[in-house]
Order: sequence, then C-alpha cells, then structure tokens
Amino acid sequence: MTLQLRVYVPPHPLVKHWLAVARDKHTPSALFRTAVTELGRWLTYEASREWLPTEDTAVQTPLDTSPATVVDSNVPVAVIPILRAGLGLLEGAQTVLPVTSIYHLGLARNEETLQPTCYLNKLPQRFHPETRVLILDPMLATGGSIMAAMAELVQRGIDPALTRVVCIVAAPQALQKLSTAYSSLVLYAASIDEGLNTQGFIVPGLGDAGDRIFGT
Ligand code: PRP
Repeated sequence: MTLQLRVYVPPHPLVKHWLAVARDKHTPSALFRTAVTELGRWLTYEASREWLPTEDTAVQTPLDTSPATVVDSNVPVAVIPILRAGLGLLEGAQTVLPVTSIYHLGLARNEETLQPTCYLNKLPQRFHPETRVLILDPMLATGGSIMAAMAELVQRGIDPALTRVVCIVAAPQALQKLSTAYSSLVLYAASIDEGLNTQGFIVPGLGDAGDRIFGT
C-alpha cells in the first residue's frame, strides 16, 4: 500500500474566524496571541481524532453497567512546540491534551539562507516506539524547519505515522518536501496558502508569527 501525505483543513467556522483575525495586519499583538491560542485549541482538537490512544472498559452508572471508552494513559503522548512561534499554539493545545509531555525544540531560520539552526533541543535521547507526537508550528514555509524537526524525532525512534503536525498556514513547498520524505505523516492546517515570496514568507500568510506573538 502506498501512503500519501494527508493534510486536513477543518471547515470549522471558529478555525476560519481566528485565521481571519490572525491574517489581518491591523490585529494588535495581544489579539494575535489570542487568535493563535484559539487555532491551537481547535486544530489540536481536530488532530486528536483517531490519534489519541483509547481503551475499552466498563463503568458503573447509578443504574447499570455501561461499556465505555477512555484515553489510554499507558501510551505516551508528546507535544513538541517549535520555538518561538510554536509556543503560541501550545496554550490552546494543552487545554485539549492536559496530560502530555512537552519537549521544546528551538529552531531559527536564517533570514538570508532560509536554513534553520537549532539553538535548543529538549528532546529525550530515545522515545518509546508507541509515542504519539504532536508538533506545533504556526507556519510551514520552505519546510526546512519542519524537516529538521522530523529528522530529530525519527532519529530518536518516533514513527511518522503516529505523528501529527498542527500549523496555521502551510506553503505547497513545505508539503512537497514532507510528502516525499514522510508520506505517512498527517497534518492539520487552517489554510494551505499560495506560496512564498522572494524573502521566503508565506503569501498571503500572516506575516512573521513569532514577531507578532511576542511583539518584537
Ligand atoms: C518561522 C516559523 C517556522 C519557520 C518556517 O520561525 O515559525 O518555524 O519560520 O519556515 P521554514 O518552513 O522556511 O523553515 P522563525 O525561524 O522565524 O523563528 P521564530 O519562531 O523564533 O520567529
């Protein structure tokens, strides 16, 4: 069976609304942060379908015994925010997935070469092979940063098929790279945008998410 990269753009009014707020250049930093938090919440909710491990059990109601399904807390769930901008998605993601391990990965893209450099890596040397991973990064532009993140994770035992990426806007260039290297990966995005400008920014995009979140 040949796997193909899957990218879901949930047609949810709240996702559309907060994407519009985030795209608007007149949105001030505080509201931009709210928009990114909300997108983190709803996109993580969508991404957790058929990904969060569950187990079947039974519970005693006041009247009878009922079959039930609960989240299987024996399977590790890891959230990886790509700093800095991925921190903006983390707060909303944590409201959906309160019991997770959070491993920070700091990647900065060189403004001229567009190549990412890793300046912080809090990943463990080895993950449990069943670990579910959720990567948070608002923007996938050239794809250099997400590819670097995936390489670090796979090297530590992560299965791309158990990995979900939550982003706000994704450029076709990044999706092409991911599709070639990690066809079993699944992404959740608020939008797949047209492409990149000559400076490597996503068009129409939402500007520099990190700068807008942190007011720099
Ligand atoms: C932005 C963004 C991604 C990366 C995308 O981060 O948040 O991590 O660029 O670009 P790419 O797909 O071409 O690699 P940036 O490097 O600006 O750092 P920041 O989050 O600290 O602002």
